[in-house]
Amino acid sequence: MPLIEVNEVRKVFETTVRRQGRFGTLASLFRPEKRQVAAVEQISFAIERGESVAYLGPNGAGKSTTIKMLTGILEPSAGSVEVAGLIPHRNRKRSSYQIGVVFGQRSQLLFDLPVKDSYELLRYMYSVSWERYHSNLKEFADILEVEHLMDRPVRTLSLGQRMRCEILAALLHDPDILFLDEPTIGLDVVAKERIRSFIEKINREKGVTLLLTTHDMNDIERLCHRTMIIDKGRLIYDGSLQYIKDNFATERQIRAAFSDVQAARAAALIFHGRPGVAVEIEEQVVRVTYDQQQTDTSELLKLLLDKANPRDLTMQDESVDALISRIYREGLEERPKNRLLAAEGALR
Ligand SMILES: Nc1ncnc2c1ncn2[C@@H]1O[C@H](COP(=O)(O)OP(=O)(O)OP(=O)(O)O)[C@@H](O)[C@H]1O
Ligand SMILES: [Mg+2]
Repeated sequence: MPLIEVNEVRKVFETTVRRQGRFGTLASLFRPEKRQVAAVEQISFAIERGESVAYLGPNGAGKSTTIKMLTGILEPSAGSVEVAGLIPHRNRKRSSYQIGVVFGQRSQLLFDLPVKDSYELLRYMYSVSWERYHSNLKEFADILEVEHLMDRPVRTLSLGQRMRCEILAALLHDPDILFLDEPTIGLDVVAKERIRSFIEKINREKGVTLLLTTHDMNDIERLCHRTMIIDKGRLIYDGSLQYIKDNFATERQIRAAFSDVQAARAAALIFHGRPGVAVEIEEQVVRVTYDQQQTDTSELLKLLLDKANPRDLTMQDESVDALISRIYREGLEERPKNRLLAAEGALR
């Protein structure tokens, strides 16, 4: 049986619309106009024990709303949610023993108290034995490198230090599932990396099931074997990131460096007007971007080598970042053939 099961779930929020003008404000006061917003629409998925799943989508897609339903903070408007055999919003307390939650934008630590006081409170709330508590604290604090922060009031910590303490807090009671809502938001590269390797470790070594929302593609490449993409409340993809890369990352770029700007301009002209090929010049570097399904790499390289004299050539596939944001913009179904043409103005 899957550890997490979501069936045809919807979440509708009701908001009050404010009317314009003085009379509008008055009218809104007596007869408020309500509008329903569906944040999540008919979503279904199942996650097995031990999986590590990325939950992606543009701003406002419904990711946090889904996580809030999975953690019992919100009740679905329709459909069913089951997490570790429990209905989260109905069994919030029992459910909380099985899950750990980290919201990058919110804290579960008490701001004015030393970090350790929050941990001791959590130990008490989750009835973790002192023995278990000390061994978890030691193990996690060691890897997350937070031992030296234990006596510091939370409000004095940097964002990166606090996030590491938050993740530790979410794991003190040995949950089976860890929900992470943008755990690396706002962190520097080193802090992100430290958090990633920790999360990877607890998934691999302790079998903790992960569901992670993020806008950082490195998080996903590193941590998740499965990717779900939600857009406007609907699940539009559920599968591996590799499949998306293999089937949708069709853009590639050749970067050719020349000895001077003149040579670069001359080389750029070779590609001018070719359908599906966009050319950009920056100083003595020419970037040729094309769709691999429409244009052969070898053909472009041959042209470059025959008709120009590049000093250096490198090739790059579309980054996962660019790919995912293209999917957000264009969806997975449509494959606009000449999307590169827009960039051709670069040669003017
Ligand atoms: N309490 C609420 N009341 C009304 N509307 C809400 C509420 N919470 C969320 N929404 C709306 O539901 C939609 C989904 O929001 P949600 O926070 O789930 O998005 P998200 O995918 O987490 O986005 P982000 O990447 O910005 O965190 C948005 O349009 C949001 O404005
Ligand atoms: Mg969110």
